Amino acid sequence: MFDALRLDEKVAVITGAAGGIGSTTARLMAGRGARVVIADIAFEAAEKLAQEIGDNALAVHLDLADSDSIRAAIARTVDHFGRLDILVNNAAATGGGLTEADGLLHAMEDWVWDRSFQVNCRGTMVITREALPHLLKTRGCIVNTVSGLGLQGHVHQTAYGATKAAIVQLTRSLATAYGRQGVRCNAVAPGLILTPVIAKDFPPKWRALVEDETPRGTAGGPEDIAEPIAFLASDAAKNITGQTLVSDGGVSVHIPGLKAYSEAFGIPFDPVETLG
Ligand SMILES: NC(=O)c1ccc[n+]([C@@H]2O[C@H](COP(=O)([O-])OP(=O)(O)OC[C@H]3O[C@@H](n4cnc5c(N)ncnc54)[C@H](O)[C@@H]3O)[C@@H](O)[C@H]2O)c1
Repeated sequence: MFDALRLDEKVAVITGAAGGIGSTTARLMAGRGARVVIADIAFEAAEKLAQEIGDNALAVHLDLADSDSIRAAIARTVDHFGRLDILVNNAAATGGGLTEADGLLHAMEDWVWDRSFQVNCRGTMVITREALPHLLKTRGCIVNTVSGLGLQGHVHQTAYGATKAAIVQLTRSLATAYGRQGVRCNAVAPGLILTPVIAKDFPPKWRALVEDETPRGTAGGPEDIAEPIAFLASDAAKNITGQTLVSDGGVSVHIPGLKAYSEAFGIPFDPVETLG
């Protein structure tokens, strides 16, 4: 039976696939028939996941801050699997104290801005440029993982948000420039996603703040981003390009103050309560 969500015969490079959203995406895409390249700076974790997935997976060392490493990762992919159909630009720089140091602009240190743009923007640009000749051959596609913080303002992660907004625009530019050659480019913008790291480290008070603004009532899981990525990479989305699909449980679609307004209007707020 024809199933447009299937990814049989496709070769997908997924950056940042050793953990979090990327690893769930790699498992999901492999389950739909793709051959997946787990490209990550955390090579040991990437290898472990590749072994778990099996012959349809390849672990590749990738440092998005290093153009030579990017070129080598794309070359290794094509050498091993013979083609490239899907590029998922999912990795982002967060470690080394970057997220903690990325606050308001008046106190921003130059390295925070530079590191964020070097990995998230320059890295995404370079790997996409290196992948493009192969994607043009296969009439392939690109899916970028951005963030709600690239679409809405916030009081922290100023540099990170600016990098994600830049990738939203890059998504439109690539869709426009290469669409007639058969290459699509879309983005997925997650809200708060409880990856193992975030589930462990995200302060419960902050999580409650987000969930109180979430019509769905809960933060998402990695599968809530992996599924839209796999959809946008599939033929089921062949008429969709240049778009940023928000997967945030509805956080960004309403007037702020969901809990307070519900209480003020006497409307049940707890997701398990019903309207009777
Ligand atoms: N988890 C969330 O709540 C959330 C929310 C919004 C957006 N996002 C975005 O989703 C994507 C995945 O997030 P996640 O939560 O799974 O992150 P994560 O930190 O769990 O995983 C990121 C992966 O990227 C890799 N990486 C980091 N720097 C790299 C580099 N220089 N070169 C190659 N690989 C590198 C890491 O080793 C890691 O495996 C990111 O783009 C992130 O900005 C996540």
